[in-house]
Amino acid sequence: MTMGNRWYKIDSMKIQPVRRIRESVRLPGDKSISHRAAIISALASRGRSRITNFSTSEDCAATLACFKQLGVIVEQDGTTVIVEAGGPILSEPRVELDCGNSGSTMRMLSGVLAGQPFASTLTGDASLRSRPMKRVIAPLEMMGARVSSRDGRAPLQITGRRPLQSLDYELPVASAQVKSAILLAGLSASGRTNVTETLAPTRDHTERMLQWFGVPIETKRGDGSSPNVVSIEGPATYQARDYEVPGDISSAAFFIAAAALLPGSNLLISDVGLNPTRAQVIASMQKLSADVRVLDMRVVCNEDVGDIQISGAESLVPKGGGHTNTLRGTEVAQLIDELPMLAVVGSQVDGGLEIRDARELRVKESDRISTTVENLRLMGAEVEEYEDGLKVAGRTRLRGAKLNAHGDHRIAMAFTVAALVAEGESEIIGAECVAVSFPGFFSLLESVIER
Ligand code: S3P
Repeated sequence: MTMGNRWYKIDSMKIQPVRRIRESVRLPGDKSISHRAAIISALASRGRSRITNFSTSEDCAATLACFKQLGVIVEQDGTTVIVEAGGPILSEPRVELDCGNSGSTMRMLSGVLAGQPFASTLTGDASLRSRPMKRVIAPLEMMGARVSSRDGRAPLQITGRRPLQSLDYELPVASAQVKSAILLAGLSASGRTNVTETLAPTRDHTERMLQWFGVPIETKRGDGSSPNVVSIEGPATYQARDYEVPGDISSAAFFIAAAALLPGSNLLISDVGLNPTRAQVIASMQKLSADVRVLDMRVVCNEDVGDIQISGAESLVPKGGGHTNTLRGTEVAQLIDELPMLAVVGSQVDGGLEIRDARELRVKESDRISTTVENLRLMGAEVEEYEDGLKVAGRTRLRGAKLNAHGDHRIAMAFTVAALVAEGESEIIGAECVAVSFPGFFSLLESVIER
C-alpha cells in the first residue's frame, strides 16, 4: 500500500525529512499503566472496573487476551475497557497463555499465576522467548511456586500455590517488571512481602495503582544512601474501581525529540503521565538544552499528569558546552525505554552524548545497544559501543539510509525521528512493529508535520 503523496509509505516505510512539527496531539494511554489496570482490576474480588484511555498497543491486547483465557470477562469499546472482577481465584486456562512480544505481560502474569491453585504455561514470540526470566523465577520459587523453563527462558510452566509465603527480597536487577511480579504474588501471600530496590528506584505504577484500589501497600523511601523498600500485606482482597489512563510518556518522547530537533517547531502534547519515576526524559532533554516545558500538573487516579510544550531550536548547545554530555547511574533506570531515542538526539547536540550503566538495554525487545549503534552508523554518525552503553559524537549531519528496526518498536520510532531530521530519504525495514506499543504512530506524526 502506498499512501499517495504522504511523507511516508506503509509498504516500504520510506521517510523523507520534514521542515517542522506544529500544533497539538493527545497520545494513546500509557502501556505500562494499562497492563497494570487490566491485571489489578481482573484480580479484584467484586465489581466492574471501567478503564478509559486504555493503551492501543498490541502488548496490552496480549494482557487482555491472557485474562480472557483465565476466565475473566473483558469488554472493549475502542479505548474503553470494562473488566469484571475475576479474582482472587481465576480459572485454569485450557491453552498456553500467549504474551506475544510483551515482557511486562509475561513477568507480571508470572507473579499473578504463582498465587493461583493450578498449573499454566506462559509463552511468547521469538524475541520474548529469548529474554531472561530467571529474575522472576527465582523470587517466585522462594514464595512457594514451581516454575519450569527452558534454561531461564520462556515457555514458563508455573504451578501456583495458595497461599504463597511472604518474602523479603532485594532486587538484583533494577526492574519494575520484577518488582511488580513479586508485589502481585504478595497479594496472595500470607504476611508482609518486602521488596528492596537495591540498585535504583524504578517506575512505581504498580504501587500507586494498588493503593488506588485500596490494597495495603507502602513505600519507605530511601535517602540516597539507603534504598526504597516497598511492602505489601497479604492476602489482600479489594473491589473493582474505575481508572483513567494518562497519555504515554514513552510514546510522547518521540514527538518531544522530533519537535525539539526541528527548528520552528511548536508542539503541545496534552494529558501525559508525568510520574517522576517515568518522566526523567523531560529533565534529560532539558539538560541537553531542548526547550521542553511542563504545564498544568495535576493528579488523576493517583498518577501525576500534565501537558508538555516543546519548541524547536536551530541547535542544541547544553550549558558548559564542548564537553560530552552523559547519562549514567540511577537516572538510566528511569529512562530505560527512551535511551535509543536519546542516542539519536545526542547525535545532534553540541558535545554528543555518552550513555553508561545501561546493560539492561541488551535484553530488551532487541539488543538495543547494538541496534542503536548499527543504525546510527548507517546514517553516518560516529559511535563507540560499550558493553553497558554507547557514545555518539554530536552535531552530525545524519544521512538518509536503509535502516533496520530489528522487530523492535522503540528502534523503529527512534530512527523515524532520525530520518525526519536527516538529509535525504531513509527506509526503515520492519517498521510495522511500532504497533507493539503505538499502532497509530505514523498517522499521528503525519498529522503534526509541516513539509
Ligand atoms: C516496564 C518496565 C521496564 C520497561 C518496560 C516496561 C514496566 O522494564 O523497559 O518497557 O511496565 O514495568 P524492566 O522493568 O524490566 O526494566
